[in-house]
Amino acid sequence: MQSPLQSFRQPGLESRIRQRVDGLPAKLQAHIARAQDVARELAPHHAVDPERAALGILAHDVARAMPGVELLERAARFDLPIRDVEQQVPLLLHGPVGAEILRREEGLSAAAEMDLYQAVYWHTTAHPTLDALGKVVFLADKLDPNKRKRYPYQPQILELAYDNLDAAILEFLTRQVVDLTNRGHLVHPTMLEARDALLRV
Ligand SMILES: [Fe+2]
Ligand SMILES: [Fe+2]
Repeated sequence: MQSPLQSFRQPGLESRIRQRVDGLPAKLQAHIARAQDVARELAPHHAVDPERAALGILAHDVARAMPGVELLERAARFDLPIRDVEQQVPLLLHGPVGAEILRREEGLSAAAEMDLYQAVYWHTTAHPTLDALGKVVFLADKLDPNKRKRYPYQPQILELAYDNLDAAILEFLTRQVVDLTNRGHLVHPTMLEARDALLRV
C-alpha cells in the first residue's frame, strides 16, 4: 500500500515530469506519446500497471535532447560511471543522466521509486536487474511504430513482447549486437551483460 506521503508526492512528480517533457522538441514529444500508447497496451499482459508504464515512458527521454558535451559534463558532475563507449557516443548517457536529473531536480526517490529510476536509467541498453516495469518501458520505447525503419525486425519483437518480455528483449538485443557489430560500431558492455543474463534464464 502507498503511504499518504507517496500518494501525495506521486501526482506532483508526474506533473513535474510532464512540464519537462513539454519543453522537449516536438518530434521527441511525439515519440514519447506513441511509446506511451505501446506501453499502456503491453503492460496489462505482464501484470504491470498501465499508468505506471506510461509514467515510465513519459520520464524515459527527459535528457534525450541534450547535446553530447552536456551529457558528458552532467554525467561527470553526477558521479555517474562513464564507459569508453559512452565517451565515444555520449548519447548512450541520456538514460543515466535523465534518471539522475529526475532524482536530483524533480524529487524522484531512487529508493521508493526505484522501479521508475531503473526504467529510465537502463532504457537504452537494458540491464540484468530490470524488473517488469523496466522491461515494458525498454520495449515500448523500441516499439514506437515510427522506429520500424530503424528496427526492421520490429514486428517480431512486438509479437514476442505480448507473450514474453524476456524473449522479446533477448531477440532485440541479439539483433542489435549483430547490427552494431556488422556496421563496425562499439557495443555497450551492459547490453551484452543484459543479453548474457537472459540467455542464462
Ligand atoms: Fe531514449
Ligand atoms: Fe525513447
